[in-house]
Amino acid sequence: MHTNEEIEEKKIDLVCGMHLASFPGVITHSYEGRQFYFCGEGCFERFKKNPKKFMGVPLIHLDGVWKIFKSDEVETQVLKELDVHIWEGDFVSIIGASGSGKSTLLNMMGLLDKPTSGKVYLRGSDISALGDDESALLRSETFGFVFQQYNLIPWLTAHENVTVPRIFAARKTDAEKVREQFKAMGLEERMNHRPSQLSGGEQQRVAILRALSNDPAILLCDEPTGNLDSNTGNKLLEMLIEFNRVQKKTLVIVTHDKDIAEKADEIITLKDGALVPDHHVHKAMYTE
Ligand SMILES: Nc1ncnc2c1ncn2[C@@H]1O[C@H](COP(=O)(O)OP(=O)(O)OP(=O)(O)O)[C@@H](O)[C@H]1O
Ligand SMILES: [Mg+2]
Repeated sequence: MHTNEEIEEKKIDLVCGMHLASFPGVITHSYEGRQFYFCGEGCFERFKKNPKKFMGVPLIHLDGVWKIFKSDEVETQVLKELDVHIWEGDFVSIIGASGSGKSTLLNMMGLLDKPTSGKVYLRGSDISALGDDESALLRSETFGFVFQQYNLIPWLTAHENVTVPRIFAARKTDAEKVREQFKAMGLEERMNHRPSQLSGGEQQRVAILRALSNDPAILLCDEPTGNLDSNTGNKLLEMLIEFNRVQKKTLVIVTHDKDIAEKADEIITLKDGALVPDHHVHKAMYTE
């Protein structure tokens, strides 16, 4: 949690996590005798609705995260000192041009990648220094991933692809429950098909079942509907939103689709590896 001095000095927006000391458009607000700072109307409105939530500990906190890839001659700065807060139960979308660092940021949040410098905290614990085994265990217990390319294991059936994360986490599988889930997805007849025998939309639905199979607290999705027709994409999106709204789980979606981004509680816009201040939903849509 940030101290009052830290908030004051760096003008930290507690909602999105941005440091605003050098940002001209900062909104200042006093609450219970303390000063709070916001990058724009979006964060300010969210704070006013639920100040206590944002004065607590963020679910995910990226603290001054840099990601730099080095090859022989070139050094690519992909994430540039990012400060991000993700709060429990939120639906956040990440938008930005191709190459702006969205997938890298998502991987960083989900412990699939480590910062070059800076720290990543999960519920207040520093997870950026964990070893590979600890990191893998925490990842499988906490996160569900939906990748753009489905990433199903080709030699396993749909059913096996969905249950394999539970095997890794040493959890029992309730066969009847899995059947019900396939049925709810309209995939009951496809449980024993391998990925090559499924359409793109079917593979993505299997990928979502797999992501949800460990009942994760946080679902991270990278362009989950990117390769689907709009009807199939909309159905998948409804399921993801239900996961957030009904089950109150945290949902982060990287997307190029403005309709998806617009449904989120907050939009993070990345530009050249840095956050664009002011994620007021509609404003973000028009300044991308
Ligand atoms: N392993 C790597 N080595 C070197 N550069 C990398 C590596 N991974 C990513 N990059 C570079 O980092 C930048 C950001 O990549 P990233 O995949 O995060 O972008 P993105 O915003 O997800 O783009 P897209 O919308 O196309 O998926 C790109 O310029 C990419 O070339
Ligand atoms: Mg990407």
